[in-house]
Amino acid sequence: MSATILDGKKLAETVRAEVATGVAEFVAAHGRPPGLEVVLVGEDPASQVYTRNKQKASTEVGIRGKLHTLPASTTEGELLALLDRLNADETVDGILVQLPLPKQISEQKVLDAIRADKDVDGFHPVNAGLLASGRQGLVPCTPRGCMKLLALAGAKLEGTRAVVVGRSNIVGKPMAQLLLGANATVTMAHSRTKDLAERCREADVLVVAVGKADLVRGDWVKPGAIVIDVGMNRITLADGKSKLVGDVAFEEAAKVAGAITPVPGGVGPMTIACLLENTLIAAKQRLAKKS
Ligand code: GUN
Repeated sequence: MSATILDGKKLAETVRAEVATGVAEFVAAHGRPPGLEVVLVGEDPASQVYTRNKQKASTEVGIRGKLHTLPASTTEGELLALLDRLNADETVDGILVQLPLPKQISEQKVLDAIRADKDVDGFHPVNAGLLASGRQGLVPCTPRGCMKLLALAGAKLEGTRAVVVGRSNIVGKPMAQLLLGANATVTMAHSRTKDLAERCREADVLVVAVGKADLVRGDWVKPGAIVIDVGMNRITLADGKSKLVGDVAFEEAAKVAGAITPVPGGVGPMTIACLLENTLIAAKQRLAKKS
């Protein structure tokens, strides 16, 4: 193995410590902690783990984190009414509704209903539009974390060839915007891309966010490239045990890449750390606007 392993767990600890300091300053200035409200509808086991982790991590840095767990039978009207209440509450700085939502609830209506200045996921069309126009808004947590990992790798993004595989609103699209904002030459590849392996081989920076275990093989990676693996796929092994793997065949790619993120312990911890950072940013920006 020749690649540098980008330790997202350690970097996330650094970010969390910085947020904790910022939160203490916020409390001293405003007499209350930033507030983050996390909403989970239904009993999806993975979402239950994610939302519990988000709430716990927020409390650990001094944010007032609250988790609302609503039954799977919740109506769209009931969820929108809760969001109205949280939008209007002065002590609430960040609102996050965990996705996916049950079928009877429109994801689009719900994301549109969260106030843009409390949208710590950065999924509201206003925040997506601000990012696309190179203006300041709230940036989705996972791509934000990927940019920090690229900085850790010492990536010189200006003029470099970056390829993003996956075009989701949550990761792929905002990731491409951030790389473009850093003056990289960006290609977006996706399920309909022809010669995907060939496109990946052109990348000095390769970000993969597809959700397919071991999609990117070692011979898809340009020697010396920086590889950011956003995938989190649970696979079952021959002995019946399960294991978490990324979208990149790690052992193969690590022989070729200059630097690579592991799964787990790469991008995952950065997503939560950036959510905490976004909550502090949202709190500070909203209060600054009011004064
Ligand atoms: N589901 C999977 N990833 C995410 C995320 O980053 N935010 C929310 N709200 N839901 C998700």
